[in-house]
This record gives sequence, C-alpha cells and structure tokens, in this order.
Amino acid sequence: MPSLATKLGTLDLATPFLAASGTFGYGSEYAPIVDLKNLGAVVTKSLSVQPREGNPTPRIWETPAGMLNAIGLENCGLDVFLAKKVPDLAKLPTKVLVNVVGHSVQEYAEICKRLDGVEAVDGFEINISCPNVKHGTRFASDAADCARLFGAVRPTTKKLLMAKLSPNVTDIGEIARAAVEHGADALSLINTLLGMAIDVKTRKPRIANVTGGLSGPAVRPVAVRCVYQAAQACPKTPVCGIGGIRCLDDALEFFLAGACCVQVGTINYADPDLLNRLPGQLDAWLKANGHENISEIVGKVAI
Ligand SMILES: Cc1cc2nc3c(=O)[nH]c(=O)nc-3n(C[C@H](O)[C@H](O)[C@H](O)COP(=O)(O)O)c2cc1C
Repeated sequence: MPSLATKLGTLDLATPFLAASGTFGYGSEYAPIVDLKNLGAVVTKSLSVQPREGNPTPRIWETPAGMLNAIGLENCGLDVFLAKKVPDLAKLPTKVLVNVVGHSVQEYAEICKRLDGVEAVDGFEINISCPNVKHGTRFASDAADCARLFGAVRPTTKKLLMAKLSPNVTDIGEIARAAVEHGADALSLINTLLGMAIDVKTRKPRIANVTGGLSGPAVRPVAVRCVYQAAQACPKTPVCGIGGIRCLDDALEFFLAGACCVQVGTINYADPDLLNRLPGQLDAWLKANGHENISEIVGKVAI
C-alpha cells in the first residue's frame, strides 16, 4: 500500500497537499466542504503585527487561465489573531503554518517570537514576496536583505521556517540560497507574478491598485521552472511548490521538478472539491506506477 505521508523538514504531513495562503481563510471556513484531515497543512492568510485594511476595491480581476489580485494583505493583526483565530486553528485536524509579513525585519521577528510558544502553530511561512504592497518584495529580490531577515528571525523560534519566494526576480537560486544559508528550513514558491489589466472603454486599470498579482493555471510553467531552479540551488532543502495547480498531473509536475509537497490556491475558488479528490488520485497513481510514496519521484525529472 502506498503512503501519502510526507515530510516537510521536521514536520510530518498527512499528505503532500496544502492549502495556499490567502485562498483558504483560516481553514475552518472550508471545513463544511473540504475534509481538512486530508490536507498536509493549512497556510493562513498573511499576518502582520498591526491590522491591515488592504487596498481599495476593485481588488480582483479574472484573466485568461488565472486572476489578478491586489488584496493588499488585509488581516486582523497579531493581537486579534492570538485571541480569536488561534483557538479555532487549534481545533483543525491538520498542521497549521502561519504566513508572516512585515514592514521591517523587527516585525517579522516579533510575530515569530510571540507565536513560538503557541502549540496550534506548527511553523511559519515567511512571506517576503507579496507584489501588492509597497516594498512587498524587497526581502525577496535582494539576497543581502533576505539574508538579514532570516538572520534576525531564526533565533526567535525553533518551529519550521519556510521562505516564500517571489518569481519577480532575476536569479531565484541566489535568493533561495540566501534564505537557506541564514536559517530557512524550507522554501515555498511561487507567490504571484506582477501583472496589470486595463479596461479599454474607460482606459482605467481593472485593479484600483493599478498592478496586481497574477495567479492560477497561467503561471504554472513559471512556477515549475522556479521550483526546479530553487531545488537545484538548494538540493538538501525541502521545497513546497505553488502555482496554478488544478489537477493531479499539475502536482506531479511539481514533484518531478523537486517539490516534496504542493500548495493549492486560486483553484479553491472555482473547484473547492479538488483538495478532497487529490489524495485518492495520488494514491491510485502511486499504486499504478509501483511507488511506495512520492519521495521516489521528487526531483526525478528526466533531464
Ligand atoms: C486572492 C489571493 C490572495 C492571496 N493572499 C496571499 C497572502 O496573503 N499571502 C501570501 O503569501 N500569498 C497570497 N496569495 C498567493 C498564493 O498563496 C499563491 O502563492 C499564488 O496564488 C500562486 O498559487 P495559485 O496559482 O495556486 O493560486 C494570494 C493569492 C490570491 C489569489
């Protein structure tokens, strides 16, 4: 019998399928329709020290095979998160990764420090890659800034630290190495690609923020390429693939490129049942192909 269990650094995941930040609330919102125990983890909406209102509307626009969004990291802030969200997260029958965002190195460090003792939190996804806020990708586009950030955050927690990288860079391998060499236990990628759409009748941008982040199936080849390059740059570091997954074959592409698990994002809006189907489909695929678990195919792209 194949096993769907997989490891992300020190974390044991029930399956390699995680729900992506910003597309799955805090997990409990989806409990009526998704069997959460079949997920490897829920990744929460980005959390900042202070609450954020996000960007003005319109904040989303559907594109061919994807969507643009510029939500602007709207969230309740750390105090409300601790008081109101953590009790519900503690009840989820899956692992919880808190996605962390900040204006400064100190803000990232403060969140990790204050959540380090919280049992419901299994680890952190450090979001250095949001294209929809001012300076959102500074830590993901400059290797020295990235190194400084992980150097400051690492001492604040023993929990898993996963660096969420941006595709909007020249050399993703360089940024991946900087994160890992300064304390990241794992890498996740990609966040959205910076995009723009214009209403030709009104001549106005479709998104009030003017630009937004492109996600969905349109970005998958970029994401698979980024995962491949990051896995090559950091061969000992677990990689979580994200970007445009809408069926099992899409996830398999990421495993072959070097990911040990994947996050499912935009498709949750169109096909929230996908996360229920993927584990059974992977189990059948592993059996049919004579594999015990996915570790046998991770990074096995035939080049
Ligand atoms: C509406 C929306 C909100 C998002 N919010 C966040 C966020 O708060 N933090 C974050 O790190 N990524 C956020 N993302 C990015 C996703 O987690 C994911 O990296 C990206 O959408 C690519 O995966 P996908 O094509 O499967 O959606 C958001 C994406 C969407 C579509």
